[in-house]
Amino acid sequence: MNYRHAYHAGNFADVLKHGLLIWIVRYLQQKEGPLCLIDTHGGAGLYDLKGPAAEKTGEAEGGILRLAKASARPAMLEPYWQLVGRANDGDGITRYPGSPWLLAANLRKQDRAIIGELHGEEAAALRANLAGFERVRVADGDGYALLQKIAPPREKRGLVLIDPPFEASDEFERLAQAVIAAHVKWPTGVYLIWYPLKDEAAVERFRAELLNARISKILAITFDAGAAEEGLRACGLVAINPPWTLEQEWREPLAWLTRTLARGAGAAGHIALLAT
Ligand SMILES: C[S@@+](CC[C@H](N)C(=O)[O-])C[C@H]1O[C@@H](n2cnc3c(N)ncnc32)[C@H](O)[C@@H]1O
Repeated sequence: MNYRHAYHAGNFADVLKHGLLIWIVRYLQQKEGPLCLIDTHGGAGLYDLKGPAAEKTGEAEGGILRLAKASARPAMLEPYWQLVGRANDGDGITRYPGSPWLLAANLRKQDRAIIGELHGEEAAALRANLAGFERVRVADGDGYALLQKIAPPREKRGLVLIDPPFEASDEFERLAQAVIAAHVKWPTGVYLIWYPLKDEAAVERFRAELLNARISKILAITFDAGAAEEGLRACGLVAINPPWTLEQEWREPLAWLTRTLARGAGAAGHIALLAT
């Protein structure tokens, strides 16, 4: 295992992914019915931004710490921003909550969350970091297999976040297979899938596989933080069955994020409908 999210926690990609994630969950929570929230690749759940991993890369400086300095944040990001505040003690941002923590903190009494994590050390940290929350289960092992086992959950309503580390050369293929198989079993679930935008051909193949599987209602969100000397420059998210207002409502917040998180020339954010 090489990938550890502690090196990247709170970077620009986390801000976009988690801002969208929490906005979508809140949208789904407008209805009273229970939700099942599944996070296939959980990570450690809570990260020390003053720790050696975060300090080594300084990635949070270009992400959540820029949000902290911004004077006016878009309303769409407010629920996420409030949760980041809750993960801290009120004296600045020194800790960053990962997706499992954000989901757990956002559960209503009728909701539950199931979080997958393959690596033992991360899973142990995740359990410790989620100890104060109820109705959250951490499942050790492969997140793709977990999803196949759970889908469809008894609640029938819910969201799946798939956020792999992309260390393996066949990650996009495994991802596509897992999404297609889960969608066959649970076509009405909301899926939010994150990926790095480095290998455009692999991204194109991934998207084409979803379309070939006749999955409808797909939005593609891409974000390029602009030229920088090192680190990830751009990422994308695919949202399947997203709230119908997302495309319209997120245009301005995405433009704001592009301005706020830009690292250099070429910063850009786009939302496009891939399938209706
Ligand atoms: C990008 S990080 C997750 C970050 C987290 N979703 C967040 O937003 O806070 C990916 C995580 O997936 C874990 N992982 C790697 N392969 C996995 C697999 N097959 N199933 C589940 N977890 C896996 C890694 O150990 C790592 O902690």
